[in-house]
Amino acid sequence: MHSTLIRKYKEIFSKEPQFFVSSSGRVNLIGEHVDYHDGIVLPCAISLKNNFVGGPSEDYEAIGINISNRSEFRADIKGLNIYEKGSSSSYLYGVCRSVIDAGHFIKGINFVVDGDLPIGSGLSSSASFCCGLIELLSQIYKLNLGKMEIAKIARMAENNYVGVPCGIMDQMAIAFGKEKKLVKIDCRDLSVNYCSMPNNISIVIVNTMLKRQLAKSEYENRQRECSLLLSILRRYYPYIKSLRDVNSNMLNTIKNEVDEIIFKRGKYVLDEIQRVEAVFEMMNSNNIKDIGKIFYEGHIGLRDEYEVSCDELDFIVEETYKFEGAIAARMTGAGFGGCAVTLIRNGFEENFSNYIRSRYMSAFKRDCDVYIIGQPVDGLISIRL
Ligand code: GLA
Repeated sequence: MHSTLIRKYKEIFSKEPQFFVSSSGRVNLIGEHVDYHDGIVLPCAISLKNNFVGGPSEDYEAIGINISNRSEFRADIKGLNIYEKGSSSSYLYGVCRSVIDAGHFIKGINFVVDGDLPIGSGLSSSASFCCGLIELLSQIYKLNLGKMEIAKIARMAENNYVGVPCGIMDQMAIAFGKEKKLVKIDCRDLSVNYCSMPNNISIVIVNTMLKRQLAKSEYENRQRECSLLLSILRRYYPYIKSLRDVNSNMLNTIKNEVDEIIFKRGKYVLDEIQRVEAVFEMMNSNNIKDIGKIFYEGHIGLRDEYEVSCDELDFIVEETYKFEGAIAARMTGAGFGGCAVTLIRNGFEENFSNYIRSRYMSAFKRDCDVYIIGQPVDGLISIRL
């Protein structure tokens, strides 16, 4: 992988690259749709990743080539933002501009990128791209950016330039991702705590292979619904800043004043934050006998209260719980397609993969994809070439 990237870089740019950076995807184990409510989340970095090699360009032009599909990214980082939101060049432009907005001096960059992280599947391919590119810029221009700054700049790139109103979970999961560790992130004070996953279980991800049509619009709708809820709660509790500051007694006070749907959204968020604390404790004490129940409750909350699941995800979760070596399953990421995360006892991974593929095929007459991940990995790695 490494040597192919270097060879391609030399072919395309006629010089030697200076750095190699690998940037993982992430999977969230629990704490879904709570990062933008200042909640707590428990993701980790995974072995599916983007790999880059790169070096400086002489001028202010940034050029990148994705060697797996030969697509090109190109951005004039001194120019005005004329890139179509969401286009691949808007990511490149957004990253470079956000590094500059954060007060750092950079010129252009040349890079080639490749990897095995599926795009648009809820495993944070875009956050992985942004974090990796920021780390590459940091190495090339000796910016010495720390993990927190990388995560914040990557989020700014997506929020301000790509037009995605995401929270901070994905970027922090990647920047702080550590081998064999789950990363508990408190999205209010941005503190990070690690816990281990028992080493006799593996993370296995099942990809519905569905295009997530509704993900962006419904994501924004959930944010709107919850800010409406907050504004009503503030009439009674003016000091609250986010749903993180609300408890179930407070929520019940306004039950009769709000639409049932809005109430459900709030209830889901409060319960989900509790579930994250519970799973973190279980992982820490190596006592995971109830973890399947908690993951399942989380999934049902996402299906019935936050309403971001879909038939394919529900099916995968239900079928997983029928499999002998399965411990837990739920949808992961923004939802409306994308992936389910499962925890499978060591030794059962291949059988589970065959089982769920054939169940999915008989139900939907389409293939799903299965990634046997095992344990978490380091999120960002850079090497001077
Ligand atoms: C997307 C966003 C994250 C988070 C999840 C849902 O991945 O980028 O910030 O909100 O959805 O948990």
